[in-house]
Amino acid sequence: MPHAIITGASAGIGEALARELVSRGYAVGLIARRADRLAALAAELRSAGHAAAWVAADVLDPDAMRDAVRALEQEQGPCDVMIANAGVIAFQQPHDYDVDGAVFCWRVNVEGVLHTVDAVLDDMRRRRQGHLVVISSTAAFKGLPGWGVYSASKAAVRVLWESMRVELAPLGVRCTCVDPGYVATDMTANNRFPMPFLITPERLAARTADAIARGETEIIVPFAHRVILALDGLSPRWLSDIVGRQLVKER
Ligand SMILES: NC(=O)c1ccc[n+]([C@@H]2O[C@H](COP(=O)([O-])OP(=O)(O)OC[C@H]3O[C@@H](n4cnc5c(N)ncnc54)[C@H](OP(=O)(O)O)[C@@H]3O)[C@@H](O)[C@H]2O)c1
Repeated sequence: MPHAIITGASAGIGEALARELVSRGYAVGLIARRADRLAALAAELRSAGHAAAWVAADVLDPDAMRDAVRALEQEQGPCDVMIANAGVIAFQQPHDYDVDGAVFCWRVNVEGVLHTVDAVLDDMRRRRQGHLVVISSTAAFKGLPGWGVYSASKAAVRVLWESMRVELAPLGVRCTCVDPGYVATDMTANNRFPMPFLITPERLAARTADAIARGETEIIVPFAHRVILALDGLSPRWLSDIVGRQLVKER
């Protein structure tokens, strides 16, 4: 049975990925900070006959991440797929930048991915087998007003993936980057601006599982966001700025 480990599995997209992957025959290893939520999800999946284990860990703690992966691998076997999904959002009021919030967002979204990858990479290289999946965002393609640090963190993750997928391919490790548009989770629950083509975490999880199965390198979900990004690329900057300003005004 293949083993997929998912960070940020206590809610939203990570939780949906866990449910989707067990339905496709995976054993899932769940990592996040909220132990109660991980325990409840693992118990529910196990009672439905699936294989699931959990360890509470913070992606900012490299030792805890290595220990968590080791514990999950002892229980369910080597990690075949690692999904670096844990992330946080930070909104910056233009008249009052919150530097601490910005640094925290950057650290969780970028350093957290590095620690997550580090926890499995040696073993994947040794086995010459494995699949790293990073959850970036369509925000990676453009600095969104008010969301600059978040956009920058997701762009960093996407660029990391771009390097890794080429350098790790000869070592037998595949890399997939997932760029979701808006997904209905706790992260977007307080957004007060229109979120075009909002999708459920279940839909994103199903599309991500397809991408893993097919070995796709990058997916933008839903497809309509590909079109939005392409149109934005063709638009004059003044038009793109008018649209972007709505994100700050309507927060
Ligand atoms: N929702 C969207 O529209 C959207 C769009 C594009 C990309 N994304 C990306 O998708 C990923 C998942 O987002 P979501 O919408 O599912 O958000 P969410 O519902 O807020 O869930 C975030 C998950 O990350 C975990 N997490 C946060 N900080 C962590 C840390 N330091 N260590 C370990 N786990 C941590 C949380 O668990 P604990 O609090 O229990 O630790 C939670 O399980 C994020 O990377 C996000 O940037 C989301």
